[in-house]
Amino acid sequence: MCGIVGYIGKRQAYPIIIKGLQRLEYRGYDSAGIALINAKGDLNVFKRKGKVTELIEFSKDLEKEGTIGIGHTRWATHGEPNDVNSHPHYSQTKNLVLIHNGIIENYSSIKEGLIKRGHQFLSQTDTEVLAHLIEDIQIHEKCKLSVAVIAALNQVIGAYAIVVMDKNDPDVLVAAKKGSPMVIGIGDDDYFIASDASPIVEYTKNVVYLEEEEVAILRRGEKLKIKNLKDKEITPYVQKLTIELESIEKGGYAHFMLKEIYEQPRSVLDSMRGRLNPAKGEIKLGGVEDHIKKFEKAKRIIFVACGTSWHAGLVAEYLFEELARIPVEVEYASEFRYRNPIIYAEDIVIAISQSGETADTLAAIAMAKSKGATVLGICNVVGSSIARATDGGSYTHAGPEIGVASTKAFTAQVTVLTLMALEMAKVRGTLSESRFRQLLYEVEAVPTKIEEVLKLNDKLKEIAYTYKDSTNALYLGRGVSFPVALEGALKLKEISYIHAEGYPAAEMKHGPIALIDEEMPVFVIATKGANYEKVVSNIQEVKARKGKIIAVVTSGDKEVKELADICIEIPETDELLVPLIAVVPLQLLSYHIAVMRGCNVDQPRNLAKSVTVE
Ligand code: G6P
Repeated sequence: MCGIVGYIGKRQAYPIIIKGLQRLEYRGYDSAGIALINAKGDLNVFKRKGKVTELIEFSKDLEKEGTIGIGHTRWATHGEPNDVNSHPHYSQTKNLVLIHNGIIENYSSIKEGLIKRGHQFLSQTDTEVLAHLIEDIQIHEKCKLSVAVIAALNQVIGAYAIVVMDKNDPDVLVAAKKGSPMVIGIGDDDYFIASDASPIVEYTKNVVYLEEEEVAILRRGEKLKIKNLKDKEITPYVQKLTIELESIEKGGYAHFMLKEIYEQPRSVLDSMRGRLNPAKGEIKLGGVEDHIKKFEKAKRIIFVACGTSWHAGLVAEYLFEELARIPVEVEYASEFRYRNPIIYAEDIVIAISQSGETADTLAAIAMAKSKGATVLGICNVVGSSIARATDGGSYTHAGPEIGVASTKAFTAQVTVLTLMALEMAKVRGTLSESRFRQLLYEVEAVPTKIEEVLKLNDKLKEIAYTYKDSTNALYLGRGVSFPVALEGALKLKEISYIHAEGYPAAEMKHGPIALIDEEMPVFVIATKGANYEKVVSNIQEVKARKGKIIAVVTSGDKEVKELADICIEIPETDELLVPLIAVVPLQLLSYHIAVMRGCNVDQPRNLAKSVTVE
């Protein structure tokens, strides 16, 4: 939610910041802005509603010189997306500029105080208030910028990742974070700041992830200085970045989403690599090893997550209950955190998050911890806030996911959750050795089966063409395929803006059936398994009302083929593993429909990849 970039060094800042903003655009893209101080000491600020390309176009003929600068791409919270509300924001004298990711909750009381002291505000944002407050302190206390930033942040309630630049001191950037991510790249004679490592990886692999309530002072020619909000100096912990530049580029694909869909055989494999040994009947999840004993005694598992990650949690509910015979609850993190839920010390709470930064999921973790539960995390982004806030867990190793609609992160999450469920089943002795091994072999075969599904792309494109003008769509599934129906519907609505609903196939009778007519495509996951005949009956019910059935079936299926308008055949697998394979054609269908409708697939309207506000 909002991307921030900063640079100070010997190179020209503008191209570095612009490229960085484009890499961070998945975090927000309703407006963008940049501020630079040139060699003469002038502070130039350009801001524009719209995407970074619009900012580039706007600044085409303007002076963009400067070896220090900050940039921002916005996802609006306070104040509509327009030029004025775009960041960077000025202080009262216009000597300071500030970019911000997060929400300053007490901004209106601070603003009132500043207005009484004569401050005038241009925007409706909470961010501008912070820029004014910092300068107000700087002037009244006659202190350095970093001291004023620390003093101001001590007054602030909320979440922030900020970078501040001072026209009167063009050799320093001051950055700080609480609740929103921030990475600092350390070059040979320069510093980079960004919301994630993607704008930095091209220039340096040495990074410092700022911790909560830390302030970084990046001064030209000096070592990186980090302080906490009590003004105590902290030794920076420099880490080596493991991501490669290629992993954050499109690599010949038209969109990141398509690339990420196609990466799934690899990302699923990477998520199980070194963790699974069917021949020996072993599973090894390093990050949960220390908690294995708790697996044995646990009375309940609670998954907390948002969006697609919540759907992965729903799949996990079936897996853990079926395999490890343990009660499971799956909670929207945003509901859980405000519900005063009953949590026992013997509960295991598992947070699922691609970004590892989702504000509601982080808050749910904090609540679960305060009640004494063991909290594990399943995250994709290494070193993310959720990865650090949890007692243990497993990374998904899907690689950077940039398309706002989550695809490979989902299958990677389900892969890791499957391994975790199997490991728990082993520890709790709820599976026979032969069933355990059979499942391990089946899991191992999933990447090859996804590859088979990807070969259906041309057929899926044709289906997409047939249904691209629909206004509604229904997705049905039963058992472990019900969350797949939810995920299929979410993919379609978020990128193509077609209204779509996912439903348990049998529940359709209690409402959605009223919507069915000859215009309505109904996507049904009707693979072989215990519920097959029941789903066939549900298909009959749709056909009787002239609905169009597009069914995902097991290769070689005959019964559904006779009923459905179109069948998408996927390779056979164990019933419990169907979500990993059946979701792939639904992702591709949504992708093609969105492209055919002229939608911005990677950056759908109003959405952001990483939701760091509650
Ligand atoms: C946003 C993204 C979704 C994602 C959800 C949860 O809504 O657009 O793709 O599923 O946040 O994010 P997380 O990073 O916690 O998985």
